[in-house]
Amino acid sequence: QRRITVRDLAAAKERGEKWPMLTAYDAMTASVFDEAGIPVLLVGDSAGNCHLGYDSTVPVTMDEMAVLAAAVVRGTRRALVVADLPFGAYQEGPVQALRNATRLVKEAGVGAVKLEGGERSLPQTELLVQAGIPVMAHLGLTPQSVNALGGYYVQGRDEEAAQQLLRDAKAAQDAGAFAVVLELVPAELAAEVTRSLHIPTVGIGAGAGCDAQVLVWTDMAGLTSGRVPRFVKQYAKLREALGEAAREYAQDVVGGAFPAEEHSFH
Ligand code: KIV
Ligand code: NA
Repeated sequence: QRRITVRDLAAAKERGEKWPMLTAYDAMTASVFDEAGIPVLLVGDSAGNCHLGYDSTVPVTMDEMAVLAAAVVRGTRRALVVADLPFGAYQEGPVQALRNATRLVKEAGVGAVKLEGGERSLPQTELLVQAGIPVMAHLGLTPQSVNALGGYYVQGRDEEAAQQLLRDAKAAQDAGAFAVVLELVPAELAAEVTRSLHIPTVGIGAGAGCDAQVLVWTDMAGLTSGRVPRFVKQYAKLREALGEAAREYAQDVVGGAFPAEEHSFH
């Protein structure tokens, strides 16, 4: 059984087939999603928030991404594994981007990398694609720029920003990107970008007009704590279920109900 490739995703757009993407940060969770048939798993730098305990994606390092990406690759057989290039791993220029992307391909075994920006990341995307590394672009809300954006807001609301987004998407496609993530973009604009590109768009908070959708897995499964953003749909209540399991276990140990006879050796 071979892995999904970027060719399969191009073919899906030709056929008008939508596909789901989820993030994953460890081998065991990744194996669950792989067995569930999720074709593309993203080792997102959302690991900063969801796995490593930072309060944004900005502090995530290449060393951290390499470890998490390798685990996700080891936990999967069929999914295309895409890893984020973290903040600071490609902004210096194409050579730095190639060095770090190569590390994720060789050390971790990922099939593609993702980086933020359209026109501003054009030389990076071009060099990676030339080198044979598939690139997924990420436009709209780009969390690595949170300090410049001043927060996590919907992007592309005014005409100028919408035109820039269309230019960025075209730039990413022309540079050879195989897909474009659109994060927190008005649905009408995301649909327009999707129609104007021949490569697939992957929406998150970008409406139903995209070719694919992505969610952060801890949001999708209801493990994340706190307020649920509007664009998230929770398909499970893992935080509740896991907390309840931990409380019951603690009770059983304190009360002497665990371990029972059947858990003991003689
Ligand atoms: O890091 C991440 O999880 C992402 C997705 C939200 C697209 O970049
Ligand atoms: Na990311």
